Amino acid sequence: MWTPIRTADGSWTLRNDELGQACHSLSGAWEQARLRYAEPCRVREVALERGVVRLLDIGTGLGLNLAAALAALDGTGARLEAVTFERDAEVLASARALVDWPSDCAPWVARVHAALVGDSGLGLKVHVELGDARERVTAAPDASFDAVFLDPFSPQVAPELWSETFLSLVASKLASGGVLSTYSASFPVRLALARAGLAVGRGPRVGTKAEGTLASRGVPLPGLEPRLERRLARRIQGAS
Ligand SMILES: C[S@@+](CC[C@H](N)C(=O)[O-])C[C@H]1O[C@@H](n2cnc3c(N)ncnc32)[C@H](O)[C@@H]1O
Repeated sequence: MWTPIRTADGSWTLRNDELGQACHSLSGAWEQARLRYAEPCRVREVALERGVVRLLDIGTGLGLNLAAALAALDGTGARLEAVTFERDAEVLASARALVDWPSDCAPWVARVHAALVGDSGLGLKVHVELGDARERVTAAPDASFDAVFLDPFSPQVAPELWSETFLSLVASKLASGGVLSTYSASFPVRLALARAGLAVGRGPRVGTKAEGTLASRGVPLPGLEPRLERRLARRIQGAS
């Protein structure tokens, strides 16, 4: 069962009642989608540079991160080509049933929800793959995504999507010049991404949430604290 909750910026999130976890921070779901994912992954910049943005979206949920990516393309004339993984079809149906979205996100959410049921429309192609992201990700071509939104539930309820094996597979999908963003700032997550060959940096603080993590192939990122940077370097080299 997914229960709707109105967040502080007026946008909706859904809480999975079984797991007791909501898909977004209650300080603002739309704010989180824009500032945690679309912006730091440079979706608009890539659109202006290349005319197309290839996005890997892990944990479709309400489709808000996809909608924020689409909004970032506004006026660029660029296309969004997204692959998105979701285990629970019920969350997609619950999201489509929500009405009364704030005006700044409503048009983007509507287009994404139409695309999730196969009506992609001009400038947008969304391929939703239902199932466990661990299996789905193996079929995605390597080095083929300009942006990766890594937005699973927390490690307490979805540890499988934070394992080193999964993170290394996800990292392999990032193209040169691509950026991955996640809300986690945990050391093991950063270490796994770095061991997979990505540069790792600080993700923005959003709403009431602390900093997250960005990882890239060849894009300069906001640096980690020097102490953390040194610890990461030591661990990558195999020292304790
Ligand atoms: C934090 S929510 C994602 C919110 C979403 N990114 C959005 O913009 O609305 C996490 C989502 O991951 C899904 N999920 C959990 N475990 C999964 C798995 N192993 N494979 C694929 N999806 C999973 C959940 O059902 C949930 O919809």
